[in-house]
Amino acid sequence: MQDEIRNIRNEFVALVSDVESPEELEELRVSYLGRSGKLTSLIKKIKDAPAHERASLGQLINETKQSIEAQIIEAAAKLSDEKVGFDPTIPGVKPPMGHTHLVSQAIAEISEIFSRIGFVRVRYPEVDWDWYAFEALNFEPDHPARDNWETFWVDAKAHPKYGPMVLTPHTSSGQVREMTRTKPPIRMVNIAKCYRRQSDVSHTPMFHQFEGLVIDKNISITHLKGTLDYFAKTYFGKDRVTRLRPYNFPFTEPSFEVDISCDICGGTGCKLCKGGWLEIGGAGMVHPNVLKNGGISPEEYTGFAFGWGVERVLMMKSGLKIDDLRTLYSTDLRFLYQF
Ligand code: DAH
Repeated sequence: MQDEIRNIRNEFVALVSDVESPEELEELRVSYLGRSGKLTSLIKKIKDAPAHERASLGQLINETKQSIEAQIIEAAAKLSDEKVGFDPTIPGVKPPMGHTHLVSQAIAEISEIFSRIGFVRVRYPEVDWDWYAFEALNFEPDHPARDNWETFWVDAKAHPKYGPMVLTPHTSSGQVREMTRTKPPIRMVNIAKCYRRQSDVSHTPMFHQFEGLVIDKNISITHLKGTLDYFAKTYFGKDRVTRLRPYNFPFTEPSFEVDISCDICGGTGCKLCKGGWLEIGGAGMVHPNVLKNGGISPEEYTGFAFGWGVERVLMMKSGLKIDDLRTLYSTDLRFLYQF
């Protein structure tokens, strides 16, 4: 019976290529797939075959049927093309083209800007140990500052040396990893996903930060200020400047919050900025304990670091007013097509 099925298939291939009209094609279809067509009669015969062969025969017939159906569709399409005439000069229908996501565009731009002044883009684990996220960054085990990071703790066995597992709540976790990976001079920019237990109109549980870290001999606050101004001018526009406001982070001393001059009012103060400045992120001089934890001598080296939100700078630059930040990560094409 297998040979019979194969013969039917081959015979059909030969016949279908000679068909010249839709009527002929229909006739051919009926003679194979119609109620008393050749293939249909074979299906009826399966039950007379030995039990162990029935399954494979059924499968073969099915495949043959599908192949015949596909050839009929193809032949029908060819016949109708011939009838209306096929014009190869008619422009095709273009499939819709995607583009890189708004946030990916910002990441590419930020890493390019820093690469121009010698920063190396690095990536570190998104699931990391408490040591890299907190402990090595000079957070005391029970220090209330840890609460500010709204951390997702991973339900996994703690590391004997590095403690519990976390989803990285900030890119600062890359600082000590970088110090252990390589020796100074260090100029890294770590751009990565961060996770915190927060979800509302201005927060998504997953967001991105970019973290700069520079360690070398004689690095001072002037280098930090110069780097931040360079970034502000290149990313936001040549008229923008930054200022440092004293703040507190466990991993930097001194620590700052960085503001950028407001472009709406040019720094004189308006509804958007209140006082001429917009808050943009944190920065500071790397704390000696952090250098030590990274195996670097604070006697010999100093460094600066900063960590800002990618979504935040993106929104500030583009003037995008998104009522709900979560829209950025929705799959709403009406939103995404705009960029
Ligand atoms: N990691 C801080 C945060 O998530 C931001 C930050 C502040 C990064 C100061 C730094 C820094 O490198 O020096 O809020």
